[in-house]
Amino acid sequence: MSSVFDASDLSWIDELADNDFIVIDNFIPLDKLSSVHQIFQRLIEQDELKKAGIGSIDYQVVSEVRGDFIHWIDQSETAELDFFFDKIEEISAQLNRYCFLGLKSREFHFALYPKGSFYEKHLDQFQERNNRMISIVFYLNENWKEGDGGELKIYQDKGDTIVKPLANRLVLFKSDIIEHEVLPTATSRKSITGWLLRKPPGLGFLS
Ligand code: OGA
Ligand code: MN
Repeated sequence: MSSVFDASDLSWIDELADNDFIVIDNFIPLDKLSSVHQIFQRLIEQDELKKAGIGSIDYQVVSEVRGDFIHWIDQSETAELDFFFDKIEEISAQLNRYCFLGLKSREFHFALYPKGSFYEKHLDQFQERNNRMISIVFYLNENWKEGDGGELKIYQDKGDTIVKPLANRLVLFKSDIIEHEVLPTATSRKSITGWLLRKPPGLGFLS
């Protein structure tokens, strides 16, 4: 089995700088991955996921645009995720060190796309709030197979890329320039999605 991601091996930074997005497989060890699954399952059972909206100031739920259900992560409530966030912190520190992004905080949520849902093509920076610098999606779909749908489509002038939402896969992209879309999913689709921010969340922490 190939080894898990090591943020100190800087090849990923070059690739992100050149390509504006990067796909990292084997992000965390399998035992940690199973505890992330358990947390997600617990949140679903406790009905903690709510229909997501769009925008920051005039936040609206528009099912024709995005159909996912989300739960914002309060890290103090979920110590089991410390391992995941330690790795995210290493990524953030390396980006500050080598790319001078000035990342200061982060915001992450669980996301569940029920069968038939999608998220139309969009950018992750809001017009009224541009502190999202790097978008991160960590997929949790064990046994995903062709036909299950829910792929991430990344739009670029040089050509589009389709990313399969495979368990233990992390995708990073530049929030200000990468237009992207979640294709309709034929099965329920799970992820942890978040953003590295250059200023504190402050304005319109979405819930
Ligand atoms: C988002 C988003 C992509 C994905 O939540 O803004 O684009 O693959 N998610 O889940
Ligand atoms: Mn997005």
